[in-house]
Amino acid sequence: MSFLLALDQGTSSSRAIVFNDKGEALGLAQQEFRQSFPQPGWVEHDPLEIWQTQLACAREALRAAGLAAGQIAAIGIANQRETTVLWERASGRPLAPAIVWQDRRGVGHCERLKADGHAEWIRARTGLELDAYFSATKLAWLLAHVPGARQQAERGELAFGTIDTWLVWQLTGGARHVTDPGNASRTLLFDIHRQVWDEDLLALFGIPPSLLPEVVDSSGVMAETLPTLFGHSIPIAGLAGDQQAATFGQACLQPGMAKNTYGTGCFLMLNTGHQPVESRHRLLTTLGWRRGGETHYMLEGSVFVAGAVVQWLRDGLGLIDTAADIEALAASVPDSGGAVLVPAFAGLGAPWWDGHARGILVGLTRGVTKAHIARAALDAIALQTVDLVDAMGRDGAGPLTELRADGGAARNDLLLQIQADLLGVPVIRPRQTETTALGAASLAGLAVGVWSSTDALASHWQAERVFEPTRSADWRASQLNTWHRAVERCRDWAAE
Ligand code: G3P
Repeated sequence: MSFLLALDQGTSSSRAIVFNDKGEALGLAQQEFRQSFPQPGWVEHDPLEIWQTQLACAREALRAAGLAAGQIAAIGIANQRETTVLWERASGRPLAPAIVWQDRRGVGHCERLKADGHAEWIRARTGLELDAYFSATKLAWLLAHVPGARQQAERGELAFGTIDTWLVWQLTGGARHVTDPGNASRTLLFDIHRQVWDEDLLALFGIPPSLLPEVVDSSGVMAETLPTLFGHSIPIAGLAGDQQAATFGQACLQPGMAKNTYGTGCFLMLNTGHQPVESRHRLLTTLGWRRGGETHYMLEGSVFVAGAVVQWLRDGLGLIDTAADIEALAASVPDSGGAVLVPAFAGLGAPWWDGHARGILVGLTRGVTKAHIARAALDAIALQTVDLVDAMGRDGAGPLTELRADGGAARNDLLLQIQADLLGVPVIRPRQTETTALGAASLAGLAVGVWSSTDALASHWQAERVFEPTRSADWRASQLNTWHRAVERCRDWAAE
């Protein structure tokens, strides 16, 4: 058996893809699900809807591939990270909506802990900023605000999980409560050096240990699906956060290799090998994956708004009809005409970590048209990425020689050309752009012998197009200078 089923549970849709042993996609299904914004800064999902859409996609992808469950060697799961679910062990019933990674309700909690001097030791232990992005303050909020939750948790009746854990629980009918070290490393509760849930952090955030999943390797048979779900049980053998999975799917398997995913946000991951590299420039040190007891660490730059700025031009401003239209509109002008857009709609992530920053459009003159604004939006996506690459360089990562690009917005040729020009290094788009799902399938396939080694996987990776830089170092420096002047103007806006 050489077919794999990848589940790619993302922020805006659930997806499933069946791959063969050449890494080719044979069947794909996708379903969007509801996004709830009950208060400014809050973002919620319905955990049951996530599960139902994911299950429906898995069944549909099998049908589309013309395969039965018995022909699938293993399932690999990739998931939106940090999003927090709390449910009852006995019934599998979620106690509340999932609190999504973009949700900012934990900002005050983080600020209180920072004021008490906790940021430094937490960064040393977890590799993370003390920020509401991660799971800890989301889980603490649920325990404090859902009636009865704290008492039930103290009695051992509840389970916590990120979306990987929630899906495995559902796929196994509650038989397995597991996560992988990469997902665990995004909770603010996990010591990335010892690779255990950290007692001091659990005490600080008031989290009863009985809530926590067991941490298992990212690649290895960790569970079997209930036979009733697909008519045959399938081993679950791969588990990874979606950005980690995309790094694996991009075959960035050696230290020094990097990928950038242009999705809702932008997530740049640099493989730093078997040792965690502590960032001195406010990047995150993250666990990539663990296979056969061997761990790969990453430096990560997370930008909260990237492709989402294109959605805003479409839905918020009505400047374009479809997201794809931005390319032709932006290409109709040679540059942004002096306009600079900083899309700090949800504050700024790396390397600024400013929850109070808000979006800004500056440099407007009478000649600025919607085409210039579209161009400024693409510039902003690329410029945020340049800031991440610069921070990585200053962290001693060595000069980047190429950047592998994926994600929905990586279909935009103009964006990738702008990116290459602003970075001064080639940007490469792979032939297989379903890198997240492929990464999950790869982790599973290695575990069950579909592939014998990562070399076999790396040999399947092929470039579709290379975008070469065409601009001078002086030009790059002046673009960055203008960008940073605009970034400074949007900092701390909501705090004033
Ligand atoms: O950290 C959040 C990230 O995992 C979300 O990725 O692709 O679902 O927007 P995506």
